[in-house]
Amino acid sequence: MSHLIHRPRRLRRRESLRALVRETRLEREDFILPLFACPGRGVRREIPSMPGVHNLSVDEIAVEAANAYEAGVRGVILFGLPETKDETATGAYDEKGIVQQAVRAIRNAAPELIVITDTCLCEYTSHGHCGVVRDGEVLNDESLDLLARTAVSQAQAGADIVAPSAMMDGQVGAIREALDGAGLEHAAIMSYAVKYASAFYGPFREAADSAPAFGDRRAYQMDAANAREALHEAELDYEEGADILMVKPATVFLDILKMVRDRFDLPLAAYHVSGEYSLIKAAAQKGWIDEKRVMLETLTSIKRAGADIIITYYAREAVKALD
Ligand code: PBG
Repeated sequence: MSHLIHRPRRLRRRESLRALVRETRLEREDFILPLFACPGRGVRREIPSMPGVHNLSVDEIAVEAANAYEAGVRGVILFGLPETKDETATGAYDEKGIVQQAVRAIRNAAPELIVITDTCLCEYTSHGHCGVVRDGEVLNDESLDLLARTAVSQAQAGADIVAPSAMMDGQVGAIREALDGAGLEHAAIMSYAVKYASAFYGPFREAADSAPAFGDRRAYQMDAANAREALHEAELDYEEGADILMVKPATVFLDILKMVRDRFDLPLAAYHVSGEYSLIKAAAQKGWIDEKRVMLETLTSIKRAGADIIITYYAREAVKALD
């Protein structure tokens, strides 16, 4: 006879018991699907390093968004590949720009879908950096005006939420002021408050054609070694008026996610980025792992660490797995 009093296994004997004591549950409302808008008509071009993810022309992106909504996805975040790029990222704040067109088309095709726009310049600049470049430097204050104009044009096109990702100091404040000045007080800001200079963005740069032509992003994105600095970054964006904070990438920064969760009461998003997706896809294609289980375990870990919102290329599959 054993004298054990505590036997945690008692509540693991059947799925219904496990479900009874489950602490973290994924729900379809948790997920945001990233989509990439490109020029043309009828274009649906798969990204080689991101199986299942495509560059989509405006007509196709509207269909894709409507299908995602039908399948249970409640929000999308949009990126754009413009026709042409230049030094000052004109395509980012053109009212007929690729993302602005995509927002309008999606609004029409899926009126209830939450539309978020990534607010950055790197997809639109010829040099691929997230701000204005002079003498090899990415200038901070000179970039704020362009980011603010981009956010205003995206909100005017109908975006519910703009998501500044350039990591320029003061970008949230500049965008809030510009939105309010344009009568767009209702447009919310989801700030990429804590964004690390990460090698996990590799596949995204192929998808968005946004690799920097020289150097890297370490002069504006965060050093992966820093945790306290994440709280400082989040604090600044909170003070500047962010409505939602974000940590990015997600799985290799779960400790940071938890720290931000514990300190701030705003809704918190985590971006499960391209490289995190591609690693799972690649191993699954080799037959080395069970893709669905690894996906669900990964997404659960992100929610357990404190995320309310999970941006993931797996959004559709995740929602389907929950059905
Ligand atoms: C734009 C931006 C990037 C990502 C989101 N917004 C790329 C970067 O900073 O280089 C990465 C997303 C992903 O890897 O899935 N600045």
